[in-house]
Amino acid sequence: MALQKKATLLVKNIGQLITMEGPSPRIGAAMNDLSLIENGGIAVAGEEILAVGKSDEVQGHVALAEGCRVFDAKGAVVTPGLIDPHTHPVFSMTREAEFEMRNQGKTYMEIARSGGGIRASVRDLRTTPAAVLMEKTKQRLDRLMSFGVTTIEAKSGYGLSTESEIKQLEIIRDLNQVHPIDLVPTFLGAHEIPDEYRDKKDQYIELICDEMIPAVVKDKLAEFSDIFCEKGVFEIEDSRTIQQAAADAGLKLKFHADELASVGGAELAAEMKAISADHLVYASDAGINAMAKSGTAAVLLPGTTFSLGSHGYAPARKMIDKGVVVALSTDCNPGSSYTESLPFMISLASLQLKMTAAEALSAVTVNAAYALDRAGQIGQLKVGLPADLVIWEMTDYRELPYHYAVNLVSAVIKKGKPVASA
Ligand code: NIG
Ligand code: FE
Repeated sequence: MALQKKATLLVKNIGQLITMEGPSPRIGAAMNDLSLIENGGIAVAGEEILAVGKSDEVQGHVALAEGCRVFDAKGAVVTPGLIDPHTHPVFSMTREAEFEMRNQGKTYMEIARSGGGIRASVRDLRTTPAAVLMEKTKQRLDRLMSFGVTTIEAKSGYGLSTESEIKQLEIIRDLNQVHPIDLVPTFLGAHEIPDEYRDKKDQYIELICDEMIPAVVKDKLAEFSDIFCEKGVFEIEDSRTIQQAAADAGLKLKFHADELASVGGAELAAEMKAISADHLVYASDAGINAMAKSGTAAVLLPGTTFSLGSHGYAPARKMIDKGVVVALSTDCNPGSSYTESLPFMISLASLQLKMTAAEALSAVTVNAAYALDRAGQIGQLKVGLPADLVIWEMTDYRELPYHYAVNLVSAVIKKGKPVASA
């Protein structure tokens, strides 16, 4: 049967076409199911997927539009465009001195308490012109895309005043309009207590609830509200207050939970029906069980453990076995994890979280889509969905974690258009 629409782009001779068709998200053993088609082909019409199947069948069914781009994958692997569900990409100043201090024995919290850390980034962001921040953020998006990423979540959190939080969210909004990567905006006014509220945390919480959240919602600048729920930062009761205000204002919830200590963040995220709780290195068994029950996704960030030089990796196996939706992300930020390489997270997930390559691929496609409340809309190669895909320089997908710290992307296609290549 010939299809009515003509193909504007065709990828043929795909050795392993990983479609991820089927359940979205993937839970438990289903994370190993990639819906893989050998000798596959995929046709695209405009921004959408037109046909997926065996290469010869797709070629037989589809008429090519004039000027159709044809990629011969020559036996290579094709996956959905990768989704990074947790990034802090809007900053100018980098913090390499802190990285070195940590490697010489100081802890992340010691540096933060002595005026470094997030507060140092805040001081810098407030005085950096928006145009400079925009350019630096764009460079990070370009680099993410070069590693196969086609959608990210992007947080504010380095402004910590109404004006500077809005400044970041407007940069995210503006870049979403001009850059091929899709950005999902998250308000993170509760990332830290800024210098001027150091001994007045309650007043800062009031500012977040009474001024920042309404301002962000009024201008539709964020879809999610996130919080650094941690010992010595926003404790459980603070987090409940702020996130309840955000939920009441119509924002969906995310949490930085149990990153450095076990404080009950996973339990709170589940209780508040958050879309995701992220980090979870020290999540309790009760918290993991509660997340499985509430359907709150666990976004694991092994790059943070790696870059903090710590040995605490999140208990991914336990989470998968208990039925939690597990996703992976870079946590790209200037403090605890400065990287744009989601494929390197797949290597760390294999080595340190003991996930299979297939589980890790589920975690950066269908499960990452779920962690952005976009299950069934992205992260799969299925007729009618956006044509976001990556052609890799490998013939077996298990090379992705194994051939580590190099870029194996051959081409990235976003909404039907080639946007990056090796
Ligand atoms: O996810 N822990 C809080 N936020 C980031 C770090 C941000 C920073 O240090 O600038 C994180 O680890
Ligand atoms: Fe983070």
